[in-house]
Amino acid sequence: MELSESGKQSGWRDYAASEWDQRKPITWLHDWDFWKYCADKFAQNGPILELACGNGRITRQLALAGFDVVAVDINPHFLNRAVDAIPAELRSKINFHLQDVVHLALDKQFHLAMMADWAFPAILTQSDQRQFLKHLHHHLLPGGHFAFNTPFATTRQLGLISMDDKLVWEQDSKRTFDALTQVETNATSPYPIRLRHNTLDDIRLLGELAGFKIAEQYGNVDRRPLLGVEGDDLTLILRKTS
Ligand SMILES: C[S@@+](CC[C@H](N)C(=O)[O-])C[C@H]1O[C@@H](n2cnc3c(N)ncnc32)[C@H](O)[C@@H]1O
Repeated sequence: MELSESGKQSGWRDYAASEWDQRKPITWLHDWDFWKYCADKFAQNGPILELACGNGRITRQLALAGFDVVAVDINPHFLNRAVDAIPAELRSKINFHLQDVVHLALDKQFHLAMMADWAFPAILTQSDQRQFLKHLHHHLLPGGHFAFNTPFATTRQLGLISMDDKLVWEQDSKRTFDALTQVETNATSPYPIRLRHNTLDDIRLLGELAGFKIAEQYGNVDRRPLLGVEGDDLTLILRKTS
């Protein structure tokens, strides 16, 4: 598998599936209504490209709801879990691929791609984000959509304090933030992960450079208005415009 710098550095590739299952079991479906909303509105009954599918939590729901899915993840242990999570009678509806989404290479185009539960911030650099959006653009049909959510820099950074020449969260010193790279390191589990913080302007510009416009924007998966207040993330749907 061709690996990007983000794929090597984010901490996800070797994350143990058993540990992740405890944090986000496939029964954790608090966000499902949002991804179902996207599938119903944009998939046009075609297959859905699910990026960074993890243990198959949303993949399984999509298949149960009648959609065909092409699901991609960088972590082979998660993919094995995802395969096991799919009821035997639905297996033919799903194709799994072990890939780094920064180098996404499938021989198919889709009306809808989705990336659930803060997987987008695992793309750690602007350069990898641009590469990812370029490849994603090739995989979407004209007018196709990309739905995802990601931490909103300003609201995520509430509570940061300076400690020993580092920025850490006052309530949780296992989470540190590097202001130069805009990358948070979260070491609250045995598998530290890194996640990039973005502003709405970052995403708008990166999207426009890659041929996308923001079609819908929300402050969370409950589709609250995006106000930039505590509790908001960036829950966005981009449309391929050119
Ligand atoms: C927070 S989990 C979300 C999993 C899943 N989308 C869900 O909703 O349960 C982030 C996922 O992104 C995957 N991931 C991180 N970087 C990736 C990359 N560069 N390419 C493909 N998958 C990646 C991880 O392996 C992990 O499954």
